[in-house]
Amino acid sequence: MSTRPIRFFHRGQIVEVTDAAPTTSVLDWLREDARCTGTKEGCNEGDCGACTVVLGTLAAPGDADAVRGLSLQTVNACIQFLPTLEGKALFSVEDLKAISPAGALHPAQQAMVDCHGSQCGFCTPGFVMSLWSSYEHHCAQGRTPTRQALADELSGNLCRCTGYRPILDAGQRMFELPRVALDTAPVIAALQRIASGETFEYERGARFHAPKTLEALAGLREAKPDARLLAGSTDIGLWVNKQFRDLGEIVYLGEVKELQRVETRDDGLWIGAGASLEDAWRALAQRWPALTDVWLRFASPPIRHAGTMGGNIANGSPIGDSAPVLMALDAQLELRKGATVRRMPLTDFYVDYMKNRLERGEFVQAIVIPDLPARRTVRAYKISKRFDCDISALCAGLSIELDGESVSAVRLAFGGLAGIVKRAAKAEAALLGQPWNEKSLAAAQAALAEDFTPLSDMRASADYRRQVAANLLQRFWLETRTANPLPASATSVFATMTHEEA
Ligand code: FAD
Ligand code: FES
Ligand code: FES
Repeated sequence: MSTRPIRFFHRGQIVEVTDAAPTTSVLDWLREDARCTGTKEGCNEGDCGACTVVLGTLAAPGDADAVRGLSLQTVNACIQFLPTLEGKALFSVEDLKAISPAGALHPAQQAMVDCHGSQCGFCTPGFVMSLWSSYEHHCAQGRTPTRQALADELSGNLCRCTGYRPILDAGQRMFELPRVALDTAPVIAALQRIASGETFEYERGARFHAPKTLEALAGLREAKPDARLLAGSTDIGLWVNKQFRDLGEIVYLGEVKELQRVETRDDGLWIGAGASLEDAWRALAQRWPALTDVWLRFASPPIRHAGTMGGNIANGSPIGDSAPVLMALDAQLELRKGATVRRMPLTDFYVDYMKNRLERGEFVQAIVIPDLPARRTVRAYKISKRFDCDISALCAGLSIELDGESVSAVRLAFGGLAGIVKRAAKAEAALLGQPWNEKSLAAAQAALAEDFTPLSDMRASADYRRQVAANLLQRFWLETRTANPLPASATSVFATMTHEEA
């Protein structure tokens, strides 16, 4: 198989790279090869946002978020591999100069100066790129964001100096300054020039395959079952950066457009395994607004733009946040091997810590959420030390159906309480057919202790996890009982543990 250069658009021209190992990070290439040192390295694990860059791709038809024909998404350059830039546009902080009138700062930069949004300045380029993305999106939609919306959009950027108030002030101020806009025409023309429908084959020490169709992906996966399947690399990126793992041959599914779809089909909501976490969680929260809190607290916008729900499920972390929620929604997985597709309930997918039922050469094609009865009430609660962008200490996905006073269906799924995400079978049994009241709640809380034997770790003690799981059941009852249920927002305080509690 031939290899050809990685081709992407950066700083006004098409760049070709032939001499980078496939797991070279975009950040390392920017700083060491392109000498664009404005993008900083802080944590090198997707957490701090110092390396935030913006990727541009040709917008899909009907993309409501498009900016004059381009889809612009912040990502963390430290955990994105260079070959995944193939066919895309890369914007780093140096690019803002070309967008503003000669010599002037971009409004995002000028506002940071005006509002004293920078002290040591180490985080500033990352913030400016997140602000620029926000600026382009909101200006394209003719609106200005609320302060809370800005805070959500900046939740992937950490600053240890300013306390964030001046940065949020800058985020609001930039919309008051004279408007400037990215000229997308030359970017679109360049992306159209380098677009290709063929599988992208790249080799430098190891081989990197980026198929463009589902059939090509399925064929490659079956032919190369030992190759590492790469989606958004928000787990895998850390294996390289922190564990120095050699990935060997890579099959990248990020170019398969069919897998990126999120759509309503005859048998429910079909979430392609390659759909971004942002698109997948947005669709879930549109159907079940009570899931908004977990959506916005799942990692950060750059992680949700790059990471996929298929990756979260397949990675199978015992503290993954998608699985408990999807289990409460009776999700099924579509598993594909070659041309054969089989279905499996998500509750049957995990067999042991980080082990699942995928066969050799098989991959997760989609997550399917059946149409649930209207009387199914769904809740999800994420408990973590930090409100934004933090791995959960535990995460609950709960759903219930009441027939009059009695429980006719119940799903109580937890992450963080065992080696796999799983439902609390004994607690569910204690509720089924019973009146949904304090007595049956107490029985279910007691049964939880038989369902799980949680561990203590740096995120929480076993006792804390046990206690909070029981408390979450109580919260769930308060919000879903028939007599004067509490509104979800009344109790959507997040649990920020102090150290002594954990
Ligand atoms: P990748 O990293 O590309 O792959 C992960 C694993 O899944 C690999 O083994 C890969 O081979 C396999 N894989 C991927 N797609 C498929 C497929 N379709 N079929 C079969 N195997 C596949 N997770 C949470 O649950 N909650 C959080 O709040 C959270 N916060 C995070 C914050 C940060 C800063 C970071 C870096 C990560 C965080 N994560 C969190 C973990 C991670 O973002 C998610 O697990 C993400 O969904 C992984 O998806 P991905 O596409 O990046 O997978
Ligand atoms: Fe911290 Fe990339 S260096 S997110
Ligand atoms: Fe120093 Fe933000 S200004 S980290």
